[in-house]
Amino acid sequence: MIDTIKEHLTQVENFSSTSMDEIEAFRIKYLGKKGLLNQFFAEFKNVPKEEKAAFGQIINQLKNTANAKVNDLKAELENHTEAKGVYGDLTRPGHPIELGARHPISIVKNRIIEIFSRIGFNVSEGPEIEDDWHNFTALNLPEYHPARDMQDTFFIQTNPDILLRTHTSSVQVRYMEENKPPIRTISPGRVYRNEAISARSHCFFHQVEGLYIDKDVSFADLKQTLQHFTSEMFGKSKIRLRPSYFPFTEPSAEVDVYWGLETETDFKMTKGTGWLEIMGCGMVDPNVLRNCNIDPEEYSGFAFGMGIDRIALLLYQIPDIRLLSENDVRFLEQFKSSL
Ligand code: DAH
Repeated sequence: MIDTIKEHLTQVENFSSTSMDEIEAFRIKYLGKKGLLNQFFAEFKNVPKEEKAAFGQIINQLKNTANAKVNDLKAELENHTEAKGVYGDLTRPGHPIELGARHPISIVKNRIIEIFSRIGFNVSEGPEIEDDWHNFTALNLPEYHPARDMQDTFFIQTNPDILLRTHTSSVQVRYMEENKPPIRTISPGRVYRNEAISARSHCFFHQVEGLYIDKDVSFADLKQTLQHFTSEMFGKSKIRLRPSYFPFTEPSAEVDVYWGLETETDFKMTKGTGWLEIMGCGMVDPNVLRNCNIDPEEYSGFAFGMGIDRIALLLYQIPDIRLLSENDVRFLEQFKSSL
């Protein structure tokens, strides 16, 4: 008899189930009114005196083990169900969906692309690691030309022919080499200059280059195009062109937009003049066209270049250019509602 009970004890110890029905059936089998334990207890009176102590001990052990087993399995199953919950608590509030924010450089760049694409410009790109020809020589900046000093260049290793482009004007050259006029293209991208990093300048920043080449393109077309741009971009269409010098354009000009002097911010931004300088431009130098196999007798065109970072700093009143590349979420989050 004791052996049979011991066998049951092993069975009880080894029993396991994740089904409530099975656990209940197990409980009834051992602990139910007509269960095995009650049957064993009923046997007690027939057990010889000398065995009673051992018999009592073993059925008590079986009873306790069975009880503990049922309780443990039920508790485990209940915990499990709660944690995983087929549906969970449907009345709980949902997790808010975090919206990302576009970087201010992207916002400004996309605005510029949008404005020019509506008047027929496509978007072109070139490499950031550039050769001397595309960054300088083809743009009418031969070796030893003093204007090369205007742009402190990062060279790749010790090879003076391979460098990080100092402006997106290099993409003009690549585009003209590969496409025949009429050409209307803008080229946004990152550029690099070996400059001391401060609140106002960085060793890398972003530009958009514009290029228009066709028959009979005049300076008036340039001015009209830029005026359209400033009125779309800033809501201001009063501009002025100041004569300037760039090796790749002749004549060249610097473009100022009239910002106004209505608020204290206007006053600060424009240093009290009301005017803001926003880009360089000019008629593409015939030498540049020739370098790109375009006949300057047949075609003419204009080009312009502007700094995206500078425009972003102006538009959003950002006091330090370094904020644009530090990726501080407290800064970036503030552009959440922008396009
Ligand atoms: N490449 C000039 C710069 O980085 C900007 C520029 C000026 C581009 C005049 C042009 C231009 O295409 O015509 O400062």
